Amino acid sequence: MDDRKSLGIYIHIPFCRSRCIYCDFTSCVGDEMARVKYCDYLKKEICLAAQKYSKDYTVDTLYLGGGTPSLLNKESFCDIAKCVKDNFDCKLKEFSVEVNPCTATREKFEAFQKAGVTRVSIGVQSFDDKLLKMLGRAHDRECAVGVIKLAKEYPFEVSADCMTGLPEQRKEDVEEFAEVAAALHTDHVSVYMLSVEDGTELSRLIEKGMLTPKNDDEVAELYDTACKALKEKGYERYEISNFAKDGKVSLHNLRYWRRQDYLGLGLSAHSLLGNIRTFNPSTFEEYYSSIDEGVLPAKTEDIIDEDGQKEEFVMLALRLKEGIDVDKYNTLFGGDFKEEYKYALTKDARYLHINDKRVAIKDEYLSVMNGIIVDFLK
Ligand SMILES: C[S@@+](CC[C@H](N)C(=O)[O-])C[C@H]1O[C@@H](n2cnc3c(N)ncnc32)[C@H](O)[C@@H]1O
Ligand code: SF4
Repeated sequence: MDDRKSLGIYIHIPFCRSRCIYCDFTSCVGDEMARVKYCDYLKKEICLAAQKYSKDYTVDTLYLGGGTPSLLNKESFCDIAKCVKDNFDCKLKEFSVEVNPCTATREKFEAFQKAGVTRVSIGVQSFDDKLLKMLGRAHDRECAVGVIKLAKEYPFEVSADCMTGLPEQRKEDVEEFAEVAAALHTDHVSVYMLSVEDGTELSRLIEKGMLTPKNDDEVAELYDTACKALKEKGYERYEISNFAKDGKVSLHNLRYWRRQDYLGLGLSAHSLLGNIRTFNPSTFEEYYSSIDEGVLPAKTEDIIDEDGQKEEFVMLALRLKEGIDVDKYNTLFGGDFKEEYKYALTKDARYLHINDKRVAIKDEYLSVMNGIIVDFLK
């Protein structure tokens, strides 16, 4: 019997064509030489990680994120996918790639298909040209629409990212996002509330008074509008910020919310393996020098005790429409979920769906989720 555990692998590609004003992800505008060098190191890291982990795991999801993985040339992209498949036992149910519309071409999508990609997640953000320009996006509406149409010609599930709470954004803009996404048969939409991060161009523009941020009520209203509009177009909200048609959920991201093992490779990538969280360095120098020494660059962030694991399991699962799997909790922790969380289950009963198998927050209360989750942490 194969008693190996399943694993999701995340690979970070820290390069972008240009930087967007709001973004503080680990990424830079590198040239082709820098990207090729990085991919060589990535392959070495994949081999080192496989020596350590491949005997214990079969890989069922692979996710290339960034930065902009679609910026890689097709040879580098295929090499990385091949390296994972050659070194790990892969039984992939999903292979996702993040795509910035300004980098997508038919040639790249051909290469994705050959490499086994099943899902593309496209950074659309908005279909309004004024907002896209303000965000510093390197594409316009026409380009984003064209790339979704192109992706739909391939056997990929297609996801689009939508940002809400943007300065100058109107309700009509987010309603239009749902309309256009649905008209183009986009399978999945992720909705992100703008987060103003220190040190970004966006935070400087706000400080100088050149952009006016939305207040909390306005942000909440825009977010709610997006959720309602997507629902009306037939998207099911299966996680607080994620919507899918016809069950086309992101299997890799589900691993994060179900607290299942994932291995992060590449600059600044994070991993959760059992009760250990690790993270990779976020500078090229540190990352390269560790690999040159033949040592995995991951450093331990946290060894999570049982109380911490329970807390994470419950908090993450409450983000999901499916909610907490009661039997799974009891098996994992040898406890009695209903007994241990009696306080929250009684206090918040009216906000929850509770049956023998599952406990979940009702759809209409997901927006006040944080107030409910704190009761589960008492
Ligand atoms: C790594 S990016 C996606 C791929 C590609 N880099 C792109 O932007 O097209 C992941 C998503 O995170 C979201 N995001 C990034 N920074 C954000 C911020 N400060 N606030 C809210 N959402 C953000 C954007 O929607 C973005 O599409
Ligand atoms: S949002 Fe995407 S494309 Fe823009 S800088 Fe961040 S990672 Fe790069």
